[in-house]
Amino acid sequence: MTALSPSPQVTGLEPAENLARLTRPDFPLLAQKACLGQPLIYLDYAATSQKPRPVLEALHHYYTCDNANVHRGAHQLSARSTEAFEGARSKTAAFIGAASPNEIVFTRNASEAINLVARSWGEANLRVGDEILLSVMEHHSNLVPWQMLAARTGAVLRHGGLTATGELDLQDLKAQLSERTRLVSLAQVSNTLGCLNPIEEIARLAHGVGALLLVDACQSLPHLPVRVAQLGADFLVGSSHKLCGPTGMGFLWGREALLEAMPPFLGGGEMIEEVQLSSSTWAGLPHKFEAGTPAIGEAIGMGCALDYLSGLGLERIHAWEQQLTRQLFARLQAIEGLRILGPTPEQQPDRGALAAFTVEGLHAHDIAALLDSAGICIRSGHHCTQPLHRHYGISGSARASLGFTTTPEEIDRFAEELTGSIAFLREHS
Ligand code: ALA
Repeated sequence: MTALSPSPQVTGLEPAENLARLTRPDFPLLAQKACLGQPLIYLDYAATSQKPRPVLEALHHYYTCDNANVHRGAHQLSARSTEAFEGARSKTAAFIGAASPNEIVFTRNASEAINLVARSWGEANLRVGDEILLSVMEHHSNLVPWQMLAARTGAVLRHGGLTATGELDLQDLKAQLSERTRLVSLAQVSNTLGCLNPIEEIARLAHGVGALLLVDACQSLPHLPVRVAQLGADFLVGSSHKLCGPTGMGFLWGREALLEAMPPFLGGGEMIEEVQLSSSTWAGLPHKFEAGTPAIGEAIGMGCALDYLSGLGLERIHAWEQQLTRQLFARLQAIEGLRILGPTPEQQPDRGALAAFTVEGLHAHDIAALLDSAGICIRSGHHCTQPLHRHYGISGSARASLGFTTTPEEIDRFAEELTGSIAFLREHS
């Protein structure tokens, strides 16, 4: 580490266990060289995670040995496939501390899970003038489905604001809650600000006015322990590909009584009990919400990924990533003209392991392109949070996001290449 990196001793915290050293051999993709032969440095974990060998092997095993449709075949392959698929549901329930696997609905992604609640619960329960409370930091997937629902039902959207440090303004949120609020829907960790929102407190506030709470846990589940009962949430959504699992897979968790009362979202095979020519009855939970052949291999891959994360331990992952985050911030804060969005680790020690930033006079895409030529992968653009960027009067930002496989040396190399790229762009603009 260079002098600019705060050592754990400097921050007064115990050094965390180096999980990168432990896990890197499991991630073949990270061992490759970049196009020009430099080591590849992947700092885009908030967009998607890389996949460990056990997940790759589980997918290979499923398609090599067990592939068959689930819930419908009398044969042995279907029995094995069904057992592995439903096993993945149980693993997902255990990962978030759900009361029953019946509370886990598999979806294509977290966006579909939010759309499911908006379509099913929303259309059955919302009337003209009812309010949905969101925040300006939300990902488009937690804005657009509610906009569409509001257009269909006449419900009103409200948005909690931010504090000066780039955290959720709880006072503002409280002021916007009323007996008209039917649902509060918020990210637990912002994909752009990285702030950790006080979900437990928000759940109490929402329930105090009779509203439900949906938590978008896409950016928290891979990084810290999440237990639905402790949060006090009513719905929670997650995404497999951010959890070291395959793409095309996500889930909705909902309290069983709520899911039980909700009508199906999509119609088709699998979700029925009895079909007549003109009407049908629905299967029980969770199959009522899973029309058609599901993403079987992907669900099994996600289950394996959750085993991998649980095996490492979310507390350990969080401790290691917090140490990396402090190092990332110290390196970025030393760069002149660079502004980080969201709270610092000093302001919010449990914040997410990412930093979205702007550099005075420079375009985020130019910075990302130069870093890419040095073998470093970061994200640039609006990160699916256009309203948040607009709130700050900017069209986009650059974002470096970390995972437990990130090494301190990679953060140092990123900071050095970033400093060089900024100097080059300033000189040539
Ligand atoms: N929502 C993902 C991100 O923040 C794709 O990059």
